Amino acid sequence: MTSHTDPGGSFRLSGTSITLNRFGYGAMQLAGPHVWGPPKDVDAAIAVLREAVAMGINHIDTADYYGPHVTNQIIRQALHPYPDDLVIVTKVGNRRGADQSWPFALSAKELTDAVHDNLRNLGRDVLDVVNLRAGGLDGPSYASIEEPLSVLADLKRQGLIRHIGLSNITARQLVEAQSITQIVCVQNRYNLAQRDDDAMIDVLAAEGIAFTPFFPLGGFTPLQSSALETAAASLGGTSMQVALAWLLQRSPNILLIPGTSSVHHLRENLKAATLHLPPEILADLNAIGSSTEHKDSPPQQGH
Ligand SMILES: NC(=O)c1ccc[n+]([C@@H]2O[C@H](COP(=O)([O-])OP(=O)(O)OC[C@H]3O[C@@H](n4cnc5c(N)ncnc54)[C@H](OP(=O)(O)O)[C@@H]3O)[C@@H](O)[C@H]2O)c1
Repeated sequence: MTSHTDPGGSFRLSGTSITLNRFGYGAMQLAGPHVWGPPKDVDAAIAVLREAVAMGINHIDTADYYGPHVTNQIIRQALHPYPDDLVIVTKVGNRRGADQSWPFALSAKELTDAVHDNLRNLGRDVLDVVNLRAGGLDGPSYASIEEPLSVLADLKRQGLIRHIGLSNITARQLVEAQSITQIVCVQNRYNLAQRDDDAMIDVLAAEGIAFTPFFPLGGFTPLQSSALETAAASLGGTSMQVALAWLLQRSPNILLIPGTSSVHHLRENLKAATLHLPPEILADLNAIGSSTEHKDSPPQQGH
């Protein structure tokens, strides 16, 4: 039996009654290969979720298009009735094609259906936090998000959503969004090697808004760097632990949602919360990535 802890300290979402432990869990890896269909071993997926909560995690990130539906159904099977302090953050803005693709789904009907799908599959009357995913994996899209965000704001007024966040957005879209509704968190791709959002993180920190990086471990291409390996060896940890510890030290508003389908990796990752990175190691790690791209200019490639 694992003891209940407060891994990585906590962060209060500004303007809400929600306090999240900074160490959360990303549930995308619980579906089958390519985030499609059921996993090989549903019991193993359930075990990961239960261990996460037992270890003090009170923030789970998901989407109903993982599977599709599968991940949310497994979360419900593993954890319902949910602990009072558990916050499930979901996202809308995509759906899955029969060919396993991830097309955008940003019309009023698609967004409304997605919120109802999340409510039904998670077994909740109201969703804690819903992120509007406005861009693709290759980076944000550069269009206005007024229309889709207004749909979510309306669903919030109807009482189906408590709080709204954004995903795959630019700094300009954040400002536009804040003129429409309160934004409590932003989820963009960010890790030791991909640091396009350095400036945005600092702006969000000043406003008490959480930044929840996706692909904190590199996602489908795990982070690999000799500086990271050297740091891990000198600290007696693993590269993954150092990558997560670096994020925890980067800014107090960063919340972690590393994904794993393994209880062993989950436990290993949580130990990152106890790793302190001294200044000389931080300097080496900081040199791995740099802020080279500005997201308010079009990306080199995208879809
Ligand atoms: N908003 C968006 O557009 C977006 C996009 C992608 C993801 N997300 C969210 O972000 C979360 C995190 O992203 P992610 O899961 O794709 O990427 P990630 O956390 O960067 O990496 C997950 C990968 O790392 C492996 N891993 C985890 N812990 C490990 C360890 N200790 N040692 C070795 N390998 C380890 C996992 O494999 P094992 O299963 O074998 O551990 C998995 O292949 C997702 O779960 C999802 O909720 C959001």
